[in-house]
Amino acid sequence: DGPAPTSSSHSDLRRRSAALTGTRPGAPDWIRRTAARAMLRAVDFKDDDFGKPLITVTSCFTNATPCNAHVDELAAVVAEHVRQRGGKPLLHGTPVVSDGETMGTPGMRYSLVSRDLIADCIECQHEAYAADGLVTIGGCDKTIPGAMMPMLRHDAVGVFLYGGSILPGGPQRNLDFVSAIEAIGARSANRITDEELLHIERHACPGAGACAGAFTANTMATIGVALGLSVPYSAGHVAATYEGRVTEHKRQDCRDSVDALFTCLERGITARQIATRKAFENAITVAMALGGSTNAVLHVLAMAREAQVPLTIDDFHQIAARVPLLGQFRPFSKYVMADLDRIGGVPVLMKHLLAHGYLHGDCLTCTGKTVEENLADVPAELPAGQDVLLPVQAPYAPPARHILILKGNLAPEGAVIKLSGKSLQRHAGPARVFDSEEAALDAILGGHIHKNDVVVIRYVGPAGAPGCPEMLSPSAALVGRGLGADVALVTDGRFSGGSHGIMVGHVCPEAYRGGPLGLLREGDTIAIDTVERTVSVIGWSADEWDRRRAAWKPVHKPASGLLAKYRRLVQPASQGAITRVVEEEEDEASTPPSA
Ligand code: FES
Ligand code: MG
Repeated sequence: DGPAPTSSSHSDLRRRSAALTGTRPGAPDWIRRTAARAMLRAVDFKDDDFGKPLITVTSCFTNATPCNAHVDELAAVVAEHVRQRGGKPLLHGTPVVSDGETMGTPGMRYSLVSRDLIADCIECQHEAYAADGLVTIGGCDKTIPGAMMPMLRHDAVGVFLYGGSILPGGPQRNLDFVSAIEAIGARSANRITDEELLHIERHACPGAGACAGAFTANTMATIGVALGLSVPYSAGHVAATYEGRVTEHKRQDCRDSVDALFTCLERGITARQIATRKAFENAITVAMALGGSTNAVLHVLAMAREAQVPLTIDDFHQIAARVPLLGQFRPFSKYVMADLDRIGGVPVLMKHLLAHGYLHGDCLTCTGKTVEENLADVPAELPAGQDVLLPVQAPYAPPARHILILKGNLAPEGAVIKLSGKSLQRHAGPARVFDSEEAALDAILGGHIHKNDVVVIRYVGPAGAPGCPEMLSPSAALVGRGLGADVALVTDGRFSGGSHGIMVGHVCPEAYRGGPLGLLREGDTIAIDTVERTVSVIGWSADEWDRRRAAWKPVHKPASGLLAKYRRLVQPASQGAITRVVEEEEDEASTPPSA
């Protein structure tokens, strides 16, 4: 071996990784990094690799869930293209928790927790190795924000790549994961047979990919594009074919993402230059027009905090009040992400919104171009002969009829409701109070919940559960029993993006931290008003509030290990349920680790 050369063509891209590998043969830092290079040689580094940009490739892979089961294949394509572009990939993994599989089990408490854990894992790997850029790849709900948060937290050079959604299942291609959940309620009400139940179970999920509708994964992937951290067509492309092969579109997304990353490296474009306040406004606008999940409120607030962009839960209302609902997607309507892809994908929606004045066109994106430049070749009007997206002139629903932020005496710091076009103005009825999802589900499936009831599920917030488990079973059981339009749910927990019905979630403050939900008793009258945007208990005098507060004893659910740490660190849902040590915020603001 002679002295190892440093690749001159990429020396300017290596701002950080020189700290790991040294700058040039003979230099003092080069000599000091000899032992590190000795170890790296054992993992296939050759002489000229030490001159290349180091790229973290995060594979949020697990064979435990279809959402991320193919992500290792995508990571291999990304890594190969990084090599082609003259970089050196460093691969690593993260945990993945599928909501669909863990919902309704104690394991579900780890789902939202996993978002911040994934972000921490990526930060740990990327910062420890002082890599120059990163491509993070994820499929399921939490891996998507979790894979974007560390880029924003450290103002890194990074691109997020979505694994893609699953194809619809069944002989009529009309089944998905939510069909399986709703079948449970339908079976319990004897509306279907065991054979029909088994048929749905066998066919709902035909292969790799995230949940197909405008549920949380597709909502967050769309937000990745709208925000500018993902390449334009990557949110719409499905993951795999019915034959089980990763699609050529997804392979191209891998290469496009790496090309975008190298553009960002060459031009010094970092995540916070992309994810500005205006970019977050674009992201919320696109999510509202698509018909996205309530979880987007939580995740976007968390991402904005990481980016140090001032954004509050009230900003969602400002945007909701002017953006119509254009998408006709499951769970509230008929289409899935593959149908959006068929008509041109997320760029078709974005161009239509841009052309009608709903988006900021001048936001920079990871392609190195602005939003407007990315969309230059896309027609301003939606394709004819389709109704996957409806035009702004004749939308599925007018503004302020999809996701709304409610306040009121039960949610002084905010709550979220998803109307998805429902004309519901007001729902009032007696509180049916449960301290866990299981107890509520037993009551629904046992036939004890009736028309007009307001099912309250409390002590399931970020700190109370802990982990703010996502719920689909109670709302799906109500739908399955034909009560979806007549019974409301109010909770300090979260709802799956696959849920529909009258559902108020993320109620803040949560019961465990002294929020008013904890004061409710069976039979109290609760009113949800979507015009006034309130969720309230009716008829309590000031004395009654005092009496209830004096009598309040929190329900404490034991937690250990990761969940106990989480309970200590988690902030309210109205601040994205982000985990952070609040005193350190100012230190971080003054010294971003990836200068
Ligand atoms: Fe993973 Fe739905 S459970 S995307
Ligand atoms: Mg989910």
